[in-house]
Order: sequence, then structure tokens, then C-alpha cells
Amino acid sequence: MFFYGAYYVINPDVRAPRILDQLSIPHPAVIAHRGASVVAPESTTPAYEIAARLGSDYLEADVQRSADGELIIFHDSDLRRTSNVSELFPRRQHDPVGSFALAELRMLDYGSWFNQAFPLRARPEYEGLEILTLSELIAIAESGEHTTGLILESKHPERYPGIEQQIIDTLLAEGWLKQTESGRVIDKASAGKAEHTRTIFFSFSPASLLRFQDVAAEIPRLLLISDTMITHLRWRSWLEVAEPIAHGLGLKGFMAWPWHIAAAHEKQMFVLPYTINYLWQIRVLAQFQASGFITDRPELVLDFLQRLPQQPNSAPVRDVIIPATPR
Ligand code: G3P
Ligand code: CA
Repeated sequence: MFFYGAYYVINPDVRAPRILDQLSIPHPAVIAHRGASVVAPESTTPAYEIAARLGSDYLEADVQRSADGELIIFHDSDLRRTSNVSELFPRRQHDPVGSFALAELRMLDYGSWFNQAFPLRARPEYEGLEILTLSELIAIAESGEHTTGLILESKHPERYPGIEQQIIDTLLAEGWLKQTESGRVIDKASAGKAEHTRTIFFSFSPASLLRFQDVAAEIPRLLLISDTMITHLRWRSWLEVAEPIAHGLGLKGFMAWPWHIAAAHEKQMFVLPYTINYLWQIRVLAQFQASGFITDRPELVLDFLQRLPQQPNSAPVRDVIIPATPR
């Protein structure tokens, strides 16, 4: 076993660039998890704007649905951790986010918790930040200098019947995806060849991935694997689950062993580890041939990859945008 492991550490499988190239996904892909969520409140406008300006390849977002049917970007099941719901709606503070109408969700402040929790990174402009809709996130991704893609997670999809179709309908309505005359849903960037794939769907739910596949088979999909899932099934079993419905797997960093990555590559699937926030993790996983990094700290990953844009005075953009980033 020791020699088996040592072999893969020294000789990792190097097929990731070719697999990603076939899907027009950049290698290694830098994915800003809930935006640049160490330096700004997660899933808010500044978190995503900073991540986009730094040059992240993709903005990661959890999509849920409000009680009145609007697609919103929000991670948790309820609103307590990242909003002031306990002040405004004390009796409903434990209720699921999907039980609130968009107008109610818009009344809440999604930034002040961050200033209180992380005083060294606090900024006055974070106070009073609003929840984002999927359409607003698309506008952010389209507004920057770089073309930044979106990697969208159907969060708790069992609570939101039809959410996969609704996500795709919204992406089409906003002109982010395109429908051909024959009805195929394609990434708009793939029509123009020069740019990378801008859209990836992922989920912990194989059933949700299957529904994405039914509606938009050509858009890349990833099966997310949590630590509890891996205790139920072995890695090779998950590869078999993923193979017919996904192009890759997203898994907790500590599970991204090089022999797991090699086994995925054997089936032409790529591996994106999450959530990679330390330099040593980035170095190790780069050696193991991870296809990219899902990170709360895109500035750190981009710096490691020497992909941070320079300002005219030759300071990296990181130092201009986020001078207070703790290291
Ligand atoms: O990046 C994978 C990740 O998004 C899945 O976990 O809990 O952050 O949505 P979570
Ligand atoms: Ca997520």
C-alpha cells in the first residue's frame, strides 16, 4: 500500500489538461467559492466582483428558490448565520430560506455579520448588502474585464422541484446560454470558439445532475462528493455513479489522493477539490494533478499560478483590491 501511494505521489496521472481541453475548461481552473469569500461577505456583490476582477475562471454559487419562485444565491438552509433574520423576523429565523418571498429576503442585511465576525477584514460598504438573484449574478459575471464563468450548484434540489429547468431557462433568458434551432442548449462561448466554457453545473444529488443532463446535455456537470458520501460508497463506486451523468467530480481536498484522481482520469473525468484555502494544500494538489481549485481565496491561488494581473504601477491587482487580505 505504501509503495502504491508513493508511486502515484511521484508519478501522478497527467491527463487532466487534455480532459479539460476537450470540454474547453481552463487548466487549472480557479473557482471562487461563494466569491472571494474570505475578503468579502460570501455570495454577495463585492465577493463576486472582487473574484471576477482578480481573474477567477469561475464564480461558484449555490442556487435556491424563494417562496415566490425567484432564483436566489444562498448557501445555508436558513438565514441565521449570514443575515440579520433574527432581528427582523425573530419568529421565522429557523425557517428555511425557501419559505421567504424575495421581497422579504431583500429586507435583510447580508454583510454586517461579516464585519462583526472578521473585524480585520470589515469594510463599511459591506453593511446592508442584499441577497443576489441568479440574474444579478449573471450581470456581475458579464460586467468585468475578464469573461468569468459560472459554476452553479443546485442546493437542496429535492426542496425545489424543477429548479434545474428553471436555472437553464434563466440562463437562456439572460443570454448566458443559447438554444440552437434544433433545440440544443449550448454555452454561448462555445459558439464563438475563442472563449472557454462559461457554464458548469454541479450537485451532491445524482438525480439533480440527471435533470440538468436531460435539459442541457452539452453543458459540463460535476458530481459533488462529501465526506459522509465517501463513507457509504467507495471511490470506484462513486466513479461508476458519476460516469453516465457527469464529466467530473468535486470532492473534499483531503480525499483528492493522486490514485483517486488517476482513477477518475481513467474514465475521462476530471477532479476539482474543495475548499482549498491554504498554500500548502494548493502545492500538494497541484502536484497530485487536480484539475483546479475551488477556493474561498482566489487571490491566493491566482498568485500561486502567477496569474494575478498587474496594475500599471506594477502592483498585483490583489494589493489594490484587497489590501487587508490576511495571510
Ligand atoms: O465547492 C463545492 C462546494 O460548493 C460544496 O459545498 O457546502 O460549500 O456548497 P458547499
Ligand atoms: Ca456550493
